[in-house]
Amino acid sequence: MKLSVFHTPELVPSQGLADCAIAIDILRATTTIVTALANGAEAVQVFADLEILQQASAAHPPALTLRAAERGGAKVAGYDLGNSPFDYGAEVVAGKRIFMSTTNGTRALAQVQDCAVVLAAAMVNLGAIVQYIQAIQPETVWIVGSGWQGSYALEDTACAGAIVDALQGELINDEAYGAVALYQTWRDRLEQLFTRASHGQRLLGLDCAADLAYAAELDRFNVVPKQVAPGILKVVA
Ligand code: MLT
Repeated sequence: MKLSVFHTPELVPSQGLADCAIAIDILRATTTIVTALANGAEAVQVFADLEILQQASAAHPPALTLRAAERGGAKVAGYDLGNSPFDYGAEVVAGKRIFMSTTNGTRALAQVQDCAVVLAAAMVNLGAIVQYIQAIQPETVWIVGSGWQGSYALEDTACAGAIVDALQGELINDEAYGAVALYQTWRDRLEQLFTRASHGQRLLGLDCAADLAYAAELDRFNVVPKQVAPGILKVVA
């Protein structure tokens, strides 16, 4: 198993595809996607563009539709939900399809959507992701951080390092070695790392400290969000 880490979607190779791509946005898109699906959402359908999200969601039964949008860490006015995992309880999302757009996480998923297997990973479902990858044994795996508007994000690369560290595959690029070192340094202090990260600081400024603690908890859920159609994620059976 050949493992490559890319800090942001922009760094993903423009030629070729991996057998399996794992998108990571710890703060907070994939943490929230895992939470929503674990709490019974029928699916999460991701969009980089808000207008396309609006058009697609308008065609879905209203009683089974939730629209979620975040920009700059804040909820977009006029949408049902922002991007805090605390807003995705079972009483809100069970049975619903969530049409979601975030600043970076949904772009990462869009960037890799042509790979045969596309998964959403976070610290909250780390073990489930590792077990699933070990079961399917893809030859090539891309582990893609979302970053922040094209820049490196500590929290995403730390999670990438956790996945690489657990899979014990062949590390293909320098970023994979760096990610493992980052994770091994901070594995017992993840919330501290998230607090120091630039986006963690941004979220603290938005009074979202609880989101950082939530995102740092390993294996909160045993679910694997998998793309079943372009941009549509469901819990793999
Ligand atoms: C992102 O897409 O960068 C994040 O989800 C932003 C956030 O939720 O704070």
